[in-house]
Amino acid sequence: MGSSRTAKTRIKSENTVLLSPPPAPRRARDRVLYINLIYTFNRFAEKHTILDMKLEIQTILFTEPDGDAIERAGEILRAGGLVVFPTETVYGLGADATDGSAAAKIFAAKGRPADNPLIVHLAEPADAERYAVTTELYFRLAERFMPGPLTVVLPKRETIPATVTAGLDTVAVRVPSHPTAHALIKAAGVPVAAPSANISGRPSPTTARHAIENMYGRADCIIAAGDCDFGVESTVVKLEGEGVVVLRPGAVTPEMLGELCPVRLPDTLYKSASADVVPESPGMKYRHYAPDVPMYILDGSDSSVKNFLRDKTDCAIICFDGDEELLAREYAFSLGDRADSASHAHRLFAVLNDIGGIAHKADGKIKAIYARMTPKEGVGLAVFNRLIKAAGYNVIKLD
Ligand code: TXA
Ligand code: MG
Repeated sequence: MGSSRTAKTRIKSENTVLLSPPPAPRRARDRVLYINLIYTFNRFAEKHTILDMKLEIQTILFTEPDGDAIERAGEILRAGGLVVFPTETVYGLGADATDGSAAAKIFAAKGRPADNPLIVHLAEPADAERYAVTTELYFRLAERFMPGPLTVVLPKRETIPATVTAGLDTVAVRVPSHPTAHALIKAAGVPVAAPSANISGRPSPTTARHAIENMYGRADCIIAAGDCDFGVESTVVKLEGEGVVVLRPGAVTPEMLGELCPVRLPDTLYKSASADVVPESPGMKYRHYAPDVPMYILDGSDSSVKNFLRDKTDCAIICFDGDEELLAREYAFSLGDRADSASHAHRLFAVLNDIGGIAHKADGKIKAIYARMTPKEGVGLAVFNRLIKAAGYNVIKLD
């Protein structure tokens, strides 16, 4: 097949990984995905001339999350392998959470710092009892928000190895609502430790294409199953007295949590933590995603944003529906209606992933990314949090 020849295995230097092209699909209905895959595979191989590890993994790609795929992926997890799977938030990179050496492979595949702990994914809220010390408040939160995009940090039990929790005495547990994720955890018969399925420092994958682009050649198996619903990672909370502290905002909003218990929002959700403060969650100190070019958030009215950008060429723009003049530009992307935070959440990472790819391909044509400020209410807090982290807290006030 012509296109597969262009995706030939390449050896760049002694430090470089050997990547093999994805196998051609037998079924006609998989062809479109395959062509897309060859494209992203080439882009990946070109961009990462020097990869930071020496792995050579044959990845099995399932383009349908059917019973056979789930069974096979469950076996791979039980055998200590890595499986990429969809959840309602973002794609995850899973391993058996009771197997320290399986979990260690996650850190290697992502290039993730060893001091950033993983979330343990369970089939049922009550399963947490085996791996963590649960409380009455945990079950109240579970009753209301699980299965769904809420992660709760609890004191850990010995059943979870230190590799998973990065040596902490707590463990984060979550029960995903995505049917494929649920079926996979059931089929595996083990709890599944899973961070987002991106290479560390890149945006979380929220589409099958971006999951493949990040993890092809790094995981043993990928279950590709369309777009994720929410598009930002789960809300992470830690129990604190009678209430919770939000370590990472997500689709379960502070307002929703507030209906059940007192909620504390640390300053670090809005601004950069100072170097001398120990973060409440290890993930807070990482920038999460750093584009290759400078990124700025523009805080101002429609007209001041338009004026500011008028003479800025060679940049990517993230704006809203209705920003006609901006959207007419070559590298402009809309997050949806300005007031629709759910749409912003759904699109943000896919847009950032696409801009990353284009910035590489367009070779110097994108020298900066300018994103319009998004609303901070409800799930908007999660969007804003990811946006300012991506922009390294660079906000330009225009009015
Ligand atoms: O939606 C999600 O949560 C996705 C999907 C795959 O489930 N997973 C995800 O995982 O976003 P990850 O590893 O990208 O982010 C986990 C976050 C990190 O910020 C980490 O520091 C925090 O949860 N975390 C995990 N265990 C913790 C613990 N014991 N104490 C405090 N924070 C913890
Ligand atoms: Mg992540």
